[in-house]
Amino acid sequence: MNKQKSFAGSDELDFRQVLEAVPDAVIVVDLDFNVRWANAAFSTLTGVPLSRAVGKKCYDVFPGKLCGTPGCPLNRIQEQMAPLCYEEDKQCGYGRSAPGLITAVPYRTAGGKLAGMVEIVHDMTPLYESREKYRKAMGGVIQAMSLAIEKRDPNTAGHQRRVTKLCRRIARELGFSWERTEGLRMAAAIHDLGKIFIPQAILNRSGELAEHERAIIQNHPKAAYEVLKDIDFPWPLAETIYQHHERMDGSGYPRGIKGESILLEARILGVADVVDAMSYFRPYRPAVGIQAALEEISKGRGIKYDPDVVDACVRVIKEGKMDLALVEEKADSGLKQ
Ligand SMILES: [Fe+2]
Repeated sequence: MNKQKSFAGSDELDFRQVLEAVPDAVIVVDLDFNVRWANAAFSTLTGVPLSRAVGKKCYDVFPGKLCGTPGCPLNRIQEQMAPLCYEEDKQCGYGRSAPGLITAVPYRTAGGKLAGMVEIVHDMTPLYESREKYRKAMGGVIQAMSLAIEKRDPNTAGHQRRVTKLCRRIARELGFSWERTEGLRMAAAIHDLGKIFIPQAILNRSGELAEHERAIIQNHPKAAYEVLKDIDFPWPLAETIYQHHERMDGSGYPRGIKGESILLEARILGVADVVDAMSYFRPYRPAVGIQAALEEISKGRGIKYDPDVVDACVRVIKEGKMDLALVEEKADSGLKQ
């Protein structure tokens, strides 16, 4: 039995109806950029009635960043004769723009001659919204962990927050993408997580630490790694924290790894951590000040610390690209002049 017969009792499918049933916007554009046909979903997405779309130029009806550039899908299809798939924000009705996943395929006449293109636009707004919700929830959990860590160790209260800020500014100087910076920020916000395993008596001890106490403190990057390693973050969070006391020349801890085998994120976190820690009071020593902190990282530039990270950090602080009050507060700085 011919299965197609079950469709409206006809041998032929009505392909126009098939395309109308597609929830994605479908638009057919000829080689002169005229919209030749569009489905109802196109109208819903753009807010443009079909009567005002068909016969008009596609770049007027449904503008995007690629319109009028060599990257315009119609131009590219004429060059490559191959389908394209890309993400682009599309201008929709009422001043709204929507993130679209766009597939553009060549449209050919029955004789096989290229006559234009068919664009299928999938509105990714719901996906973006749920991704945003997930991101906010993850940020909230990290924030809660950060507060819990600082509650337990009031001597470092505010430290993780300031380090996070400084890391973000250094990352920006180094040209990190927004996405990569987010990962670094999350790692910085909880980089002292491992300190919750250090007995309070050692954390609050004033004066020099004994050898065994130092060993306990130096285990904190590994302790944090153990807690985080099985969580599937979109960034190398656990590893970044594990490495934040490693140094380029191998003199750091806990593993003594060196050079490029230390993640760039960890090299940034390490420098920001030193700068902030030296600027503030610790039970076992007074604050030495931001000037001394900058001298320390400059002295270790290319030895203990990544030279590019040191340069970026010095620039951020000296050029006032960061709110110094946050890093400095109690430090006696000559940088205010
Ligand atoms: Fe640390």
